[in-house]
Amino acid sequence: MELIANRAKHALSGTVVVPGDKSISHRSLMFGAIADGRGTVTGMLEGEDCLATAAAMRAMGVAIERTAPGSYVIDGVGMHGLTAPSHAIDLGNSGTGMRLLTGLLAAQSFSSRLVGDESLTIRPMGRIIKPLSSMGAEIGANDGCAPLRISPATDGLRGIRYPMPIASAQVKSAILLAGLYADGETYVVEPGPSRDHTERMLTAMGADVRVQDDGVKIAPAQTLRAQDVVVPGDLSSAAFFLVAGSIVPGSDLILPGVGVNPTRTGVIDILRQMGADLSLTNARESGGEPVADIRVRASALQAIDLDPKFVPLAIDEFPVLFVAAACASGRTRFSGLAELRHKESDRIGVMVSGLRTLGIDVSESGDTVEIDGGTFGGGRVDSHGDHRIAMAFAVAATVGNAAISIEKPENIATSFPNFVDLSDSVGFDLALEGG
Ligand code: S3P
Repeated sequence: MELIANRAKHALSGTVVVPGDKSISHRSLMFGAIADGRGTVTGMLEGEDCLATAAAMRAMGVAIERTAPGSYVIDGVGMHGLTAPSHAIDLGNSGTGMRLLTGLLAAQSFSSRLVGDESLTIRPMGRIIKPLSSMGAEIGANDGCAPLRISPATDGLRGIRYPMPIASAQVKSAILLAGLYADGETYVVEPGPSRDHTERMLTAMGADVRVQDDGVKIAPAQTLRAQDVVVPGDLSSAAFFLVAGSIVPGSDLILPGVGVNPTRTGVIDILRQMGADLSLTNARESGGEPVADIRVRASALQAIDLDPKFVPLAIDEFPVLFVAAACASGRTRFSGLAELRHKESDRIGVMVSGLRTLGIDVSESGDTVEIDGGTFGGGRVDSHGDHRIAMAFAVAATVGNAAISIEKPENIATSFPNFVDLSDSVGFDLALEGG
Protein backbone atom coordinates (compact mmCIF):
# COMPACT_ATOMS: atom_id res chain seq x y z
CA MET A 1 0.00 0.00 0.00
CA GLU A 2 1.11 3.60 -0.44
CA LEU A 3 -0.11 6.97 0.67
CA ILE A 4 -0.15 9.56 -2.09
CA ALA A 5 0.22 12.98 -0.52
CA ASN A 6 -0.24 16.22 -2.45
CA ARG A 7 0.00 19.89 -1.63
CA ALA A 8 -2.72 21.05 0.80
CA LYS A 9 -6.01 21.82 -0.96
CA HIS A 10 -6.19 25.18 0.84
CA ALA A 11 -5.01 26.86 4.04
CA LEU A 12 -5.65 24.35 6.83
CA SER A 13 -8.62 25.31 8.95
CA GLY A 14 -11.05 23.80 11.39
CA THR A 15 -11.07 21.73 14.52
CA VAL A 16 -8.89 18.66 14.90
CA VAL A 17 -9.86 16.23 17.65
CA VAL A 18 -6.82 13.98 17.92
CA PRO A 19 -7.23 10.44 19.29
CA GLY A 20 -6.43 9.48 22.86
CA ASP A 21 -2.91 9.42 24.24
CA LYS A 22 -1.14 6.17 23.44
CA SER A 23 1.01 6.05 26.58
CA ILE A 24 -1.93 6.71 28.89
CA SER A 25 -4.18 4.24 27.03
CA HIS A 26 -1.66 1.40 27.45
CA ARG A 27 -1.29 2.16 31.14
CA SER A 28 -5.02 2.43 31.78
CA LEU A 29 -5.48 -1.09 30.41
CA MET A 30 -2.54 -2.72 32.20
CA PHE A 31 -2.99 -1.01 35.54
CA GLY A 32 -6.78 -1.33 35.44
CA ALA A 33 -6.35 -5.06 34.86
CA ILE A 34 -4.40 -5.56 38.11
CA ALA A 35 -6.55 -3.17 40.18
CA ASP A 36 -9.20 -4.30 42.63
CA GLY A 37 -12.67 -3.72 41.21
CA ARG A 38 -14.29 -2.15 38.21
CA GLY A 39 -12.74 0.82 36.43
CA THR A 40 -13.59 2.63 33.23
CA VAL A 41 -11.58 4.22 30.46
CA THR A 42 -12.99 6.86 28.14
CA GLY A 43 -11.21 8.41 25.19
CA MET A 44 -8.99 5.38 24.79
CA LEU A 45 -6.85 5.22 21.68
CA GLU A 46 -8.22 2.37 19.60
CA GLY A 47 -5.03 2.00 17.61
CA GLU A 48 -3.43 -1.38 16.98
CA ASP A 49 -0.79 -0.97 19.70
CA CYS A 50 -3.31 -0.40 22.49
CA LEU A 51 -5.69 -3.03 21.12
CA ALA A 52 -2.79 -5.50 21.38
CA THR A 53 -2.36 -4.56 25.03
CA ALA A 54 -6.11 -5.03 25.63
CA ALA A 55 -5.92 -8.47 23.96
CA ALA A 56 -2.91 -9.35 26.15
CA MET A 57 -4.78 -8.53 29.36
CA ARG A 58 -7.84 -10.44 28.16
CA ALA A 59 -5.60 -13.44 27.40
CA MET A 60 -4.63 -13.38 31.08
CA GLY A 61 -8.23 -13.59 32.30
CA VAL A 62 -9.24 -9.92 32.53
CA ALA A 63 -12.73 -8.94 31.35
CA ILE A 64 -12.43 -5.76 29.27
CA GLU A 65 -15.68 -4.71 27.65
CA ARG A 66 -16.03 -2.03 24.97
CA THR A 67 -19.18 -0.09 25.78
CA ALA A 68 -18.91 2.66 23.12
CA PRO A 69 -16.18 3.93 20.79
CA GLY A 70 -13.17 4.63 23.03
CA SER A 71 -15.08 3.59 26.17
CA TYR A 72 -14.19 0.48 28.12
CA VAL A 73 -15.09 -1.18 31.39
CA ILE A 74 -12.29 -3.16 33.01
CA ASP A 75 -12.98 -5.68 35.75
CA GLY A 76 -9.67 -5.66 37.59
CA VAL A 77 -8.54 -9.06 38.87
CA GLY A 78 -6.22 -7.69 41.57
CA MET A 79 -2.43 -7.70 41.65
CA HIS A 80 -2.28 -11.49 41.93
CA GLY A 81 -5.31 -12.39 39.83
CA LEU A 82 -3.83 -12.67 36.34
CA THR A 83 -3.86 -16.18 34.90
CA ALA A 84 -1.41 -17.91 32.56
CA PRO A 85 -2.06 -17.09 28.88
CA SER A 86 -2.67 -20.17 26.74
CA HIS A 87 -0.55 -18.83 23.86
CA ALA A 88 2.26 -16.37 23.14
CA ILE A 89 1.23 -12.75 23.68
CA ASP A 90 1.66 -10.73 20.47
CA LEU A 91 2.39 -7.04 21.06
CA GLY A 92 2.59 -6.25 17.33
CA ASN A 93 4.59 -3.06 16.72
CA SER A 94 4.47 -1.81 20.31
CA GLY A 95 7.63 -1.24 22.32
CA THR A 96 5.59 0.26 25.14
CA GLY A 97 3.34 -2.80 25.30
CA MET A 98 6.23 -5.22 25.36
CA ARG A 99 8.48 -3.36 27.80
CA LEU A 100 5.81 -2.47 30.38
CA LEU A 101 4.23 -5.90 30.22
CA THR A 102 7.60 -7.56 30.79
CA GLY A 103 7.95 -5.65 34.07
CA LEU A 104 4.49 -6.81 35.12
CA LEU A 105 4.89 -10.41 33.96
CA ALA A 106 8.31 -10.81 35.59
CA ALA A 107 6.44 -10.73 38.91
CA GLN A 108 3.77 -13.31 38.08
CA SER A 109 3.66 -16.91 39.25
CA PHE A 110 3.22 -18.26 35.69
CA SER A 111 5.38 -18.35 32.59
CA SER A 112 4.67 -16.29 29.50
CA ARG A 113 6.12 -15.61 26.08
CA LEU A 114 6.02 -12.21 24.35
CA VAL A 115 6.37 -11.79 20.61
CA GLY A 116 6.08 -8.88 18.18
CA ASP A 117 6.31 -7.89 14.53
CA GLU A 118 9.51 -7.57 12.50
CA SER A 119 10.31 -4.08 13.85
CA LEU A 120 9.62 -4.96 17.49
CA THR A 121 11.72 -8.12 17.16
CA ILE A 122 14.87 -6.10 16.51
CA ARG A 123 14.31 -3.42 19.16
CA PRO A 124 16.59 -3.55 22.22
CA MET A 125 15.11 -5.38 25.21
CA GLY A 126 18.42 -5.67 27.10
CA ARG A 127 17.63 -2.28 28.61
CA ILE A 128 14.74 -3.85 30.60
CA ILE A 129 16.17 -7.36 30.98
CA LYS A 130 19.25 -6.06 32.81
CA PRO A 131 17.50 -4.19 35.66
CA LEU A 132 14.65 -6.71 35.93
CA SER A 133 17.17 -9.57 36.15
CA SER A 134 19.01 -7.81 38.94
CA MET A 135 15.64 -7.73 40.76
CA GLY A 136 15.55 -11.54 40.40
CA ALA A 137 13.43 -11.79 37.25
CA GLU A 138 13.96 -14.70 34.89
CA ILE A 139 13.75 -13.53 31.29
CA GLY A 140 15.10 -15.35 28.26
CA ALA A 141 15.66 -13.42 25.04
CA ASN A 142 17.11 -13.84 21.60
CA ASP A 143 20.35 -11.86 21.70
CA GLY A 144 18.72 -9.11 23.77
CA CYS A 145 15.60 -9.04 21.60
CA ALA A 146 12.10 -10.56 21.47
CA PRO A 147 10.72 -13.19 21.63
CA LEU A 148 10.94 -12.92 25.41
CA ARG A 149 10.35 -15.94 27.66
CA ILE A 150 9.42 -14.92 31.17
CA SER A 151 9.45 -17.49 34.00
CA PRO A 152 8.39 -17.01 37.61
CA ALA A 153 11.21 -15.52 39.71
CA THR A 154 12.50 -18.43 41.82
CA ASP A 155 13.11 -16.32 44.93
CA GLY A 156 10.63 -13.54 44.19
CA LEU A 157 11.66 -10.01 43.20
CA ARG A 158 13.99 -7.75 45.20
CA GLY A 159 13.78 -3.97 45.30
CA ILE A 160 16.82 -2.32 43.74
CA ARG A 161 18.35 1.08 43.18
CA TYR A 162 18.93 1.35 39.45
CA PRO A 163 20.65 4.27 37.73
CA MET A 164 19.23 4.21 34.18
CA PRO A 165 21.86 4.80 31.49
CA ILE A 166 19.26 6.51 29.25
CA ALA A 167 16.15 8.57 29.94
CA SER A 168 13.35 6.11 29.10
CA ALA A 169 9.81 6.05 30.45
CA GLN A 170 9.41 2.51 29.17
CA VAL A 171 12.39 1.23 31.14
CA LYS A 172 11.40 3.26 34.20
CA SER A 173 7.82 1.95 34.03
CA ALA A 174 8.88 -1.69 33.61
CA ILE A 175 11.02 -1.42 36.75
CA LEU A 176 8.30 0.40 38.72
CA LEU A 177 5.72 -2.26 37.82
CA ALA A 178 8.08 -5.01 38.98
CA GLY A 179 8.78 -2.86 42.05
CA LEU A 180 5.11 -3.06 43.05
CA TYR A 181 5.72 -6.79 43.64
CA ALA A 182 9.25 -6.59 45.12
CA ASP A 183 10.22 -7.28 48.72
CA GLY A 184 11.45 -3.74 49.41
CA GLU A 185 11.68 -0.26 47.95
CA THR A 186 12.73 0.19 44.32
CA TYR A 187 14.53 3.37 43.28
CA VAL A 188 14.94 4.29 39.62
CA VAL A 189 17.51 7.04 39.11
CA GLU A 190 16.98 8.95 35.85
CA PRO A 191 19.66 10.78 33.85
CA GLY A 192 16.97 13.27 32.78
CA PRO A 193 13.18 13.59 32.79
CA SER A 194 10.99 11.16 30.87
CA ARG A 195 7.20 10.99 30.68
CA ASP A 196 5.65 10.39 34.10
CA HIS A 197 2.24 8.88 33.26
CA THR A 198 3.05 5.70 35.21
CA GLU A 199 3.88 7.64 38.36
CA ARG A 200 0.70 9.74 38.07
CA MET A 201 -1.65 6.82 37.42
CA LEU A 202 -0.17 4.48 40.04
CA THR A 203 -0.33 7.29 42.61
CA ALA A 204 -4.01 7.86 41.78
CA MET A 205 -4.55 4.13 42.29
CA GLY A 206 -3.09 4.31 45.79
CA ALA A 207 0.49 3.10 45.22
CA ASP A 208 3.27 4.65 47.29
CA VAL A 209 5.24 6.45 44.58
CA ARG A 210 7.72 9.12 45.66
CA VAL A 211 9.18 11.41 43.04
CA GLN A 212 12.76 12.46 43.90
CA ASP A 213 14.97 15.17 42.39
CA ASP A 214 16.86 12.53 40.41
CA GLY A 215 14.27 9.80 39.87
CA VAL A 216 11.43 7.92 41.50
CA LYS A 217 10.93 5.48 44.36
CA ILE A 218 8.14 2.93 44.67
CA ALA A 219 7.15 0.78 47.62
CA PRO A 220 5.69 -2.72 47.29
CA ALA A 221 1.88 -2.70 47.16
CA GLN A 222 -0.82 -5.15 48.13
CA THR A 223 -3.64 -3.64 46.13
CA LEU A 224 -4.39 -0.92 43.59
CA ARG A 225 -7.70 0.94 43.51
CA ALA A 226 -9.64 0.83 40.22
CA GLN A 227 -10.01 4.25 38.57
CA ASP A 228 -12.15 5.98 35.99
CA VAL A 229 -9.57 7.22 33.51
CA VAL A 230 -10.31 9.96 31.00
CA VAL A 231 -7.59 9.80 28.36
CA PRO A 232 -6.54 13.20 26.96
CA GLY A 233 -5.76 13.74 23.26
CA ASP A 234 -2.27 12.63 22.28
CA LEU A 235 0.18 15.52 21.91
CA SER A 236 2.36 13.22 19.79
CA SER A 237 -0.51 12.94 17.29
CA ALA A 238 -1.33 16.64 17.62
CA ALA A 239 2.29 17.40 16.64
CA PHE A 240 1.59 16.60 12.97
CA PHE A 241 -1.05 19.33 12.91
CA LEU A 242 1.05 21.78 14.92
CA VAL A 243 3.70 21.56 12.22
CA ALA A 244 1.29 21.44 9.26
CA GLY A 245 -0.67 24.40 10.67
CA SER A 246 2.60 26.33 11.03
CA ILE A 247 3.94 25.71 7.52
CA VAL A 248 0.85 25.91 5.28
CA PRO A 249 0.34 29.67 4.68
CA GLY A 250 -2.85 31.14 6.16
CA SER A 251 -3.66 28.10 8.32
CA ASP A 252 -5.58 28.32 11.58
CA LEU A 253 -6.37 25.12 13.48
CA ILE A 254 -7.89 24.39 16.87
CA LEU A 255 -6.97 21.16 18.68
CA PRO A 256 -9.20 20.75 21.73
CA GLY A 257 -8.41 18.57 24.77
CA VAL A 258 -4.75 17.74 24.15
CA GLY A 259 -2.58 16.36 26.97
CA VAL A 260 0.09 18.89 27.92
CA ASN A 261 1.92 16.99 30.65
CA PRO A 262 5.20 18.92 31.12
CA THR A 263 7.21 15.75 30.46
CA ARG A 264 5.71 15.71 26.95
CA THR A 265 5.61 19.36 25.86
CA GLY A 266 9.07 19.57 24.28
CA VAL A 267 7.46 19.80 20.85
CA ILE A 268 5.61 22.98 21.86
CA ASP A 269 8.78 24.55 23.27
CA ILE A 270 10.83 23.60 20.22
CA LEU A 271 8.28 24.88 17.70
CA ARG A 272 7.95 28.13 19.64
CA GLN A 273 11.75 28.50 19.57
CA MET A 274 11.42 28.20 15.79
CA GLY A 275 8.83 30.97 15.73
CA ALA A 276 5.62 28.93 15.63
CA ASP A 277 2.41 30.69 16.67
CA LEU A 278 0.90 28.32 19.23
CA SER A 279 -1.49 29.35 21.95
CA LEU A 280 -2.79 27.19 24.78
CA THR A 281 -6.15 28.01 26.33
CA ASN A 282 -8.65 26.44 28.70
CA ALA A 283 -5.86 24.77 30.70
CA ARG A 284 -7.33 22.18 33.05
CA GLU A 285 -6.63 18.90 34.84
CA SER A 286 -8.31 15.72 33.68
CA GLY A 287 -7.73 12.47 35.54
CA GLY A 288 -4.47 13.71 37.04
CA GLU A 289 -3.10 14.91 33.68
CA PRO A 290 -2.87 18.53 32.45
CA VAL A 291 -4.94 19.21 29.34
CA ALA A 292 -5.43 22.30 27.14
CA ASP A 293 -6.86 23.43 23.82
CA ILE A 294 -4.14 24.36 21.34
CA ARG A 295 -4.50 26.85 18.50
CA VAL A 296 -1.90 26.97 15.75
CA ARG A 297 -1.67 29.68 13.13
CA ALA A 298 0.75 29.72 10.22
CA SER A 299 3.99 31.60 10.73
CA ALA A 300 7.47 31.83 9.24
CA LEU A 301 9.74 29.31 10.97
CA GLN A 302 13.41 29.97 11.63
CA ALA A 303 16.27 27.54 12.11
CA ILE A 304 17.48 26.75 15.65
CA ASP A 305 20.41 25.03 17.35
CA LEU A 306 18.42 22.87 19.76
CA ASP A 307 19.55 22.36 23.34
CA PRO A 308 19.65 18.52 23.68
CA LYS A 309 17.89 18.76 27.05
CA PHE A 310 14.62 19.07 25.08
CA VAL A 311 15.08 15.75 23.26
CA PRO A 312 13.53 13.31 25.82
CA LEU A 313 10.59 15.72 26.19
CA ALA A 314 9.82 15.46 22.45
CA ILE A 315 11.23 12.02 21.74
CA ASP A 316 8.45 10.86 19.40
CA GLU A 317 8.06 14.17 17.60
CA PHE A 318 11.40 14.39 15.79
CA PRO A 319 10.24 12.97 12.44
CA VAL A 320 7.79 15.85 12.07
CA LEU A 321 10.22 18.33 13.67
CA PHE A 322 12.68 17.40 10.88
CA VAL A 323 9.94 18.46 8.45
CA ALA A 324 9.49 21.75 10.35
CA ALA A 325 13.25 22.32 10.13
CA ALA A 326 13.19 21.68 6.38
CA CYS A 327 10.60 24.50 6.12
CA ALA A 328 12.52 26.94 8.32
CA SER A 329 14.90 29.58 7.03
CA GLY A 330 18.51 28.66 7.78
CA ARG A 331 20.27 25.54 9.04
CA THR A 332 18.75 23.72 12.03
CA ARG A 333 20.91 21.55 14.25
CA PHE A 334 19.38 18.80 16.36
CA SER A 335 21.82 16.86 18.56
CA GLY A 336 21.46 14.28 21.34
CA LEU A 337 19.18 12.19 19.13
CA ALA A 338 20.81 8.76 19.72
CA GLU A 339 17.56 7.17 20.99
CA LEU A 340 15.86 7.90 17.67
CA ARG A 341 17.82 5.06 16.14
CA HIS A 342 15.97 2.57 18.41
CA LYS A 343 12.36 3.50 17.71
CA GLU A 344 9.94 1.75 15.32
CA SER A 345 12.64 2.40 12.70
CA ASP A 346 16.03 4.13 12.75
CA ARG A 347 14.30 7.50 12.63
CA ILE A 348 17.48 9.41 11.86
CA GLY A 349 18.51 7.21 8.93
CA VAL A 350 15.00 6.88 7.51
CA MET A 351 14.12 10.59 7.75
CA VAL A 352 17.48 11.73 6.36
CA SER A 353 17.14 9.44 3.37
CA GLY A 354 13.54 10.53 2.69
CA LEU A 355 14.34 14.24 3.06
CA ARG A 356 17.22 13.88 0.60
CA THR A 357 14.92 12.15 -1.89
CA LEU A 358 12.64 15.18 -1.65
CA GLY A 359 15.50 17.59 -2.35
CA ILE A 360 16.36 18.80 1.15
CA ASP A 361 20.01 19.29 2.13
CA VAL A 362 20.59 17.33 5.30
CA SER A 363 23.59 15.79 7.01
CA GLU A 364 23.77 13.24 9.80
CA SER A 365 26.64 12.26 12.04
CA GLY A 366 26.10 9.99 15.03
CA ASP A 367 23.39 11.56 17.15
CA THR A 368 23.32 14.87 15.27
CA VAL A 369 21.32 16.00 12.26
CA GLU A 370 21.65 19.30 10.40
CA ILE A 371 18.87 20.37 8.06
CA ASP A 372 18.92 23.29 5.62
CA GLY A 373 15.56 24.91 5.04
CA GLY A 374 14.43 24.40 1.44
CA THR A 375 11.50 23.31 -0.70
CA PHE A 376 10.09 19.79 -0.94
CA GLY A 377 10.03 18.32 -4.42
CA GLY A 378 8.00 15.21 -5.12
CA GLY A 379 9.24 11.64 -4.95
CA ARG A 380 8.84 8.22 -3.44
CA VAL A 381 9.86 7.76 0.19
CA ASP A 382 9.90 4.60 2.29
CA SER A 383 8.38 4.90 5.77
CA HIS A 384 9.95 1.55 6.74
CA GLY A 385 6.59 0.69 8.30
CA ASP A 386 7.06 3.45 10.90
CA HIS A 387 3.77 5.29 11.60
CA ARG A 388 5.36 8.57 12.61
CA ILE A 389 7.64 8.66 9.55
CA ALA A 390 4.67 8.10 7.24
CA MET A 391 2.67 10.90 8.89
CA ALA A 392 5.68 13.26 8.92
CA PHE A 393 6.07 12.92 5.14
CA ALA A 394 2.33 13.50 4.69
CA VAL A 395 2.89 16.82 6.49
CA ALA A 396 5.86 17.60 4.21
CA ALA A 397 3.61 17.10 1.19
CA THR A 398 1.25 19.87 2.31
CA VAL A 399 3.85 22.39 1.10
CA GLY A 400 5.51 20.23 -1.57
CA ASN A 401 5.91 21.10 -5.24
CA ALA A 402 4.75 17.67 -6.40
CA ALA A 403 3.17 14.50 -5.03
CA ILE A 404 5.00 12.46 -2.42
CA SER A 405 4.36 8.70 -2.50
CA ILE A 406 4.83 7.24 0.96
CA GLU A 407 5.47 3.51 1.01
CA LYS A 408 4.19 1.19 3.75
CA PRO A 409 1.81 3.58 5.54
CA GLU A 410 -0.29 0.74 7.08
CA ASN A 411 1.20 1.19 10.54
CA ILE A 412 -0.32 4.66 10.84
CA ALA A 413 -3.12 2.56 12.36
CA THR A 414 -0.90 1.70 15.35
CA SER A 415 -1.26 5.19 16.82
CA PHE A 416 -3.62 7.29 14.65
CA PRO A 417 -6.24 5.16 12.89
CA ASN A 418 -8.24 8.11 11.46
CA PHE A 419 -5.23 10.20 10.40
CA VAL A 420 -6.03 10.23 6.68
CA ASP A 421 -9.69 11.21 7.04
CA LEU A 422 -9.06 13.75 9.78
CA SER A 423 -6.23 15.48 7.89
CA ASP A 424 -8.29 15.47 4.72
CA SER A 425 -11.12 17.22 6.56
CA VAL A 426 -8.90 20.22 7.39
CA GLY A 427 -7.27 20.58 3.97
CA PHE A 428 -4.60 17.88 3.43
CA ASP A 429 -4.79 16.07 0.09
CA LEU A 430 -4.14 12.39 0.85
CA ALA A 431 -5.17 9.15 -0.83
CA LEU A 432 -4.36 5.56 0.09
CA GLU A 433 -3.66 3.35 -2.90
CA GLY A 434 -3.20 -0.40 -3.31
CA GLY A 435 -3.76 -3.20 -0.83
C1 S3P B 1 6.63 5.71 25.79
C2 S3P B 1 7.90 6.14 26.01
C3 S3P B 1 8.82 6.57 24.95
C4 S3P B 1 8.11 6.79 23.63
C5 S3P B 1 7.08 5.76 23.33
C6 S3P B 1 6.04 5.68 24.44
C7 S3P B 1 5.81 5.28 26.94
O1 S3P B 1 9.83 5.60 24.79
O2 S3P B 1 9.05 6.84 22.56
O3 S3P B 1 6.41 6.04 22.11
O4 S3P B 1 4.59 5.16 26.81
O5 S3P B 1 6.39 5.06 28.01
P1 S3P B 1 11.16 5.62 25.73
O6 S3P B 1 10.69 5.83 27.08
O7 S3P B 1 11.82 4.29 25.56
O8 S3P B 1 11.99 6.74 25.18
